[in-house]
Amino acid sequence: MSIIGVDGGMKTVRAEGRIVNLEKKIKQHSDIDGCIGIAHTRWATHGMPSENNSHPHRDCSGKISIVHNGIIENHEDLRSVLISTGHGFDSDTDSEVIAHMIENFIDQGYSFVESFHKTLSHLRGTYGLVAVFKGENKIIGARMGSPLVVGVGVNEYLIASDITAIVKHTKDVIYLDDGEVVLIDGGDIAIETIDRLKIKKSVTEISWDYLGAQKNGQPHFMLKEILEQPETVQNSIRGRIDFHKGTAVLGGLKDVECKLKEIDRIVIVGCGSAYYAGLIGEYLIEQIAGIPVEVELASEFRYRKPILSQRTAVLAISQSGETADTLEAIREAKRKNVLTLGIVNTVGSTIARETDAGVYNHAGPEVGVASTKAFVSQVVVLCLLALYVGRENGNFSKKEGLELIKSLTELPKNIKGLLKSKDYIKDVAKQFSDINNCFFLGRKFMAPIAYEGSLKLKEVSYIHAEGYTTGEMKHGPIALIDEGFPAIVLCPKDSVYTKTLSNIEELNARKCPMICVTTSGNTDLDKFTNNVIYIPNISEYLLPVVATIPLQLFAYYVSCEKGLNPDMPRNLAKSVTVE
Ligand code: G6P
Repeated sequence: MSIIGVDGGMKTVRAEGRIVNLEKKIKQHSDIDGCIGIAHTRWATHGMPSENNSHPHRDCSGKISIVHNGIIENHEDLRSVLISTGHGFDSDTDSEVIAHMIENFIDQGYSFVESFHKTLSHLRGTYGLVAVFKGENKIIGARMGSPLVVGVGVNEYLIASDITAIVKHTKDVIYLDDGEVVLIDGGDIAIETIDRLKIKKSVTEISWDYLGAQKNGQPHFMLKEILEQPETVQNSIRGRIDFHKGTAVLGGLKDVECKLKEIDRIVIVGCGSAYYAGLIGEYLIEQIAGIPVEVELASEFRYRKPILSQRTAVLAISQSGETADTLEAIREAKRKNVLTLGIVNTVGSTIARETDAGVYNHAGPEVGVASTKAFVSQVVVLCLLALYVGRENGNFSKKEGLELIKSLTELPKNIKGLLKSKDYIKDVAKQFSDINNCFFLGRKFMAPIAYEGSLKLKEVSYIHAEGYTTGEMKHGPIALIDEGFPAIVLCPKDSVYTKTLSNIEELNARKCPMICVTTSGNTDLDKFTNNVIYIPNISEYLLPVVATIPLQLFAYYVSCEKGLNPDMPRNLAKSVTVE
């Protein structure tokens, strides 16, 4: 953190590890007093997590202080040039070159603001960047590839890379676009391009309630977000059902209605949990709408020369709407001139703005790093999308549509009932909290849920877990199974139930300790394990939603049992804005 003091001086305090470490250090400095400041929690891309590598970074004179999110790709070239002209570096980060570059231009006689602009024209890569200069009452920020948003408060401005950081202070924001620079000078704000052309930007009011981002009395955001999933689903479907026609109403797709009718293939891109939601979307759209779907990890998409015809739509799924890999995948699709769509939770985020059309999740802010309610809302929105397209192209009858709608509208009530078994799942989690390895297994709609369940456990408990399709076990992984290698098997009474049951027999024969998730009323599994978790017996299309919830709770309670903080897993970030 760097603060420009009321006397014009600048104080910088940095700390390694949690923010509380920084708070403790700041308390030791009674002389910090000012109302212009910058700070950053760093996600280590270059260099170890250490105090020297933490932000803000300064120039040689200590007059310039910067915080930077993103990656400066040409930092090594810039660093060697700067070293050859006498600059000394303090850190292993790519970011530090920015402070020295600004200093370099100031030494040549340019003002701080001019030097900042000149520096930007030399940077290659991505940045959400903010700088201050000792003795000047200014903050200057710029965006290229990494998000930056300006909050317009009462007698104050705030700059952040995510609106959740500023929503407590103001709901009026200006979203910066790539290549834009914001200068806050005393009480004035000005936005320009890197080449110094003035730009007029409008102020957007965000609708998220700050209270929505509080823990609601729960010990962790992750649990709070798991427990609010009945409302999440309700919010995702609210106003989006046409009971008369047995279809979904998706206002965000209205502008592209005609184009959508021409589409004969959909490519879904996403990362992490969003990618797994996409895999469920593949089954849903293919079965309900009869349109072939491929799901690609966004980080791979643009590097494999995707073959996209004019009748292909590329659909990005992203909670934050800022994930760099997903954004770049969408930009690649746009370069190929195909229809781009988004399923995005964060209103006004970059992916929401850059896609041709889309559907918001309306899940509200998700704070826990491991996605829970956002994932569930992504599956629900994919179901609505499949229903809409399937009804439009006639692949899904009105009768089928109405049946699915019934299941959708009953989903919040069903989730509420399921959440009542949370204490039972806590007990099961206790028994399994000291395992070192674990398989998550499922078929068809349950396969992506197995992947997502294993991701949840990895993220918050650091236990090695692998998600597999049950049918693949015999092709290798079953070699690992013995009495010390447990498996969590998703085995609802669905269209592939008997197949999964045979796989359970195989696991049982190898003494695999099992937790089975099945639909209520099914007693077949009692002979294999005492740990049977029941989920409601609902439409197969929506089973993924109810099957994922016990796995979220399991991961959460294992994490707590191990004394970890599930909200802040090590090495992970909520919004990954670097490639
Ligand atoms: C990070 C988060 C995951 C999330 C993924 C994609 O890895 O930790 O929970 O699923 O990013 O994020 P997005 O915001 O694009 O959905």
